[in-house]
Amino acid sequence: MLSAADNARYNDVEPGSILHDMARRYWLPYLRSEALEPNGPPKKIELLGEKFVSFRDGRGKVGFLEEQCPHRGASLSLGRTGDNALTCIFHGWKFDTSGACIASPSESNPRFCSTVKVPAFPVKEAGGALWVYLGPGEPPAFPEWEFCLMPPEHRRARVGYTDSNWTQNLETLLDSAHIGLLHAQPVKNAINDSVVAIKGVHAPKLSVVDTPYGFQAYSRREREDGQVYLRVTEYLAPFTVSNGSMRTDEGRVLFMIPINNRRTAFWRFEWDMAHTQEWWKQQSIERGALDLKFVDHDDFLLNSLDRTREDFGQNREAMKLGHWSGFKNLRAEDAAVAESVPIVDRTKEHLGASDLVIAKMRQRFFQGLNEFERDGRVLGLGPHGDGSGIAYADLRGTSEVIAAAADQIAYHNVELREERRARREAFLASHKPDALAQPAKEKKHA
Ligand code: FES
Ligand SMILES: [Fe+2]
Repeated sequence: MLSAADNARYNDVEPGSILHDMARRYWLPYLRSEALEPNGPPKKIELLGEKFVSFRDGRGKVGFLEEQCPHRGASLSLGRTGDNALTCIFHGWKFDTSGACIASPSESNPRFCSTVKVPAFPVKEAGGALWVYLGPGEPPAFPEWEFCLMPPEHRRARVGYTDSNWTQNLETLLDSAHIGLLHAQPVKNAINDSVVAIKGVHAPKLSVVDTPYGFQAYSRREREDGQVYLRVTEYLAPFTVSNGSMRTDEGRVLFMIPINNRRTAFWRFEWDMAHTQEWWKQQSIERGALDLKFVDHDDFLLNSLDRTREDFGQNREAMKLGHWSGFKNLRAEDAAVAESVPIVDRTKEHLGASDLVIAKMRQRFFQGLNEFERDGRVLGLGPHGDGSGIAYADLRGTSEVIAAAADQIAYHNVELREERRARREAFLASHKPDALAQPAKEKKHA
């Protein structure tokens, strides 16, 4: 349970809130790289309740500007691209990627435009996505996640949008207990190895270990063979989670990026050193998953729910026949729960023992928010000065079957991390950039 004031501090990412100011201090993913073609249509972007526009000029350079034209306020998202600039269609004022006005044909004085600028923000292209820094001063060093080191054909960046507050989506990712319940049907269908390992166990044993950047959540499920199914989720305050991957050569990192208080971008960065995108595509087809659009789409949650209906298209007939949730897949189930109440009133909730990780996450979140409010310190990894020396590339969730007597903390933090690092180094050594075949659709930009 939270007080009404804390619930508001937790949810509110829009201008004027402390969280808004803090969130601007991180690099935020905002579009898949492919979404911006050189000289293609600009895209309207909303982040943290503010509107922007992003475009790629003819040389491949990406601009990220405030949306409003500084002349009389038309949206630059309607602008024309070309000539390495974005041109407002209202009176033809032209802006380059730095936000400088380079022509204002409606003014007779040709030097007039040199006095005008649209606020522009630093952009970085990495891991198949475009990232922006909206904060003051120099941006922090870019977090080199393991997926950023991967050649393009061994990673993919996907994003989906949900009409609900970011907190609900993040809490769902940290909530191990709902998997066997809300997702009873996908678990029964055994869509992947992790889910098979969870089968039939609803109350895992939970514990939490603090880290300089957030925490690690451990969940243990006893198996019939006497071993333990261990899941470790890494939480990086405030928006990032890496949950378990089954093999040393694959992983995923998920970001819940607030668009505004009622909408969230769910980013999923995945990589696999043993397989390429072709293999993923094949897997989706074989699962009947439907989800060809998972492979290459700008919103993988787009059709998960029927948002024209109050019940999101929940199938009551299927439920009568034994389907637990009435939603077509795991993603639809998570989205339906989050969107059913877009901003939850946490003065009315009752947390139980199974919500330990959620409670911990909120504690860590408020600790970070309060520190930021007090002295401007930003909770996070190296770039924000925690001095832990832990590299982003080494952070990954775990999903493994281990011996019951094994030391789970040492296993996750030392043994498995070293094994994964060795695997990465060997892989990267055999995929030196000059040995890489760049897939045709991934253009190299200057
Ligand atoms: S409003 Fe953009 S050029 Fe006039
Ligand atoms: Fe879920």
